[in-house]
Amino acid sequence: SELQAIQSTEDLTIMASNRNLLVLPGDGIGPEVMNEVRKIIAWMGKKRAIGFDIKEDLVGGAALDKHGVPLSDDAMKTALEADAVLFGSVGGPKWDTADFSKKPERGLLRLRKEMDLFANLRPAKVFDALVDASSLKPEIVKGLDIMIIRELTSGVYFGEPRGRHVNAAGEVEAFDTQRYTAPEIRRVCAVAFELARKRKNKVLSSEKANVMHTGVLWREEATKLHKEKYSDVKLDHMYADALAMQLLRAPKEFDVIVTDNLFGDILSDEASMLTGSLGLLPSASLGAPDATGRRKALYEPIHGSAPDIAGKGLANPIAQTLSYAMMLRYSFDLGKDADMVELAVENVLKAGYRTGDLLVGNTDGVKKVGTQEMGDAIVKE
Ligand code: IPM
Ligand code: MN
Repeated sequence: SELQAIQSTEDLTIMASNRNLLVLPGDGIGPEVMNEVRKIIAWMGKKRAIGFDIKEDLVGGAALDKHGVPLSDDAMKTALEADAVLFGSVGGPKWDTADFSKKPERGLLRLRKEMDLFANLRPAKVFDALVDASSLKPEIVKGLDIMIIRELTSGVYFGEPRGRHVNAAGEVEAFDTQRYTAPEIRRVCAVAFELARKRKNKVLSSEKANVMHTGVLWREEATKLHKEKYSDVKLDHMYADALAMQLLRAPKEFDVIVTDNLFGDILSDEASMLTGSLGLLPSASLGAPDATGRRKALYEPIHGSAPDIAGKGLANPIAQTLSYAMMLRYSFDLGKDADMVELAVENVLKAGYRTGDLLVGNTDGVKKVGTQEMGDAIVKE
């Protein structure tokens, strides 16, 4: 009977979990890599009694096709009620001609904004087994472990006014606005200082205070907050262009980097190449803690929907897998289980399993695998 099933300890997934998870696979390779994470979720349910009440919905082009919008109000509501959202990726050539306000990416931007996920944690760690996959020399990247914190709900991604018009001279003109308030800067810098204390105690704040008013304010607020509350942490500042250069010259000099929405977008893609592939990097987007200490949170790989390889079973499921591990760690306080997932990934790479994106540099003794084989290897490990 059902009761017996619940009482038996064989299948622990049936136990009530109180963990509400919304899964949004999205477009392109999103659904494929998410399927591999489902295998890990199932394993964790069975073997570690980590169950979730899972809801699933559409986002991006998939939602646009079905509902005429890149995120339905219903899905938005579910996301706001969930303890965590696990997100795949959005976008693709099919929707290139969609109206700007309905582009697949708007679905993701709406989630970030309405959930107020202002702190985007983008760790870039180099696995020993992949030192040769980086386009940089092994001695430059070996042992690299940096954390980029990207402001995610303001700046030029959301600033008003934005749009296009025909100007007084009769020319077509487009404009976006870079805008930051002092509290917006302070709250994301606070996350950086807090995290640095648990790492190597170093924060590098980056902007362009030499040319932008928002950059001047950013530097002032970071400095003030540091003086007031975090003077035990080492704080440095660097212009974002110089940082782009230093990340290639000597990336290991950095610990935590905090920067605005657009610079963070660009610099984190750059950092992914230090690790060997965009297919490896997870991210956590966190809101402010509520009265009970709970933060709204969304976990997503930093890679996009990769339409060129979508549906071919070639995509690397590791970034999505590590995003799930970040979810265990940051939303559910399951650090040991997160470690377990991360170690499984590391061991599978050590054993030589490589998806196509990782087949660069020295490929002696590696096993070329597709999405599903990589996912299976991680579950087995
Ligand atoms: C990212 C992506 C997104 C961004 C897109 C898909 C809207 O590039 O998460 O880095 O620009 O923020
Ligand atoms: Mn990006």
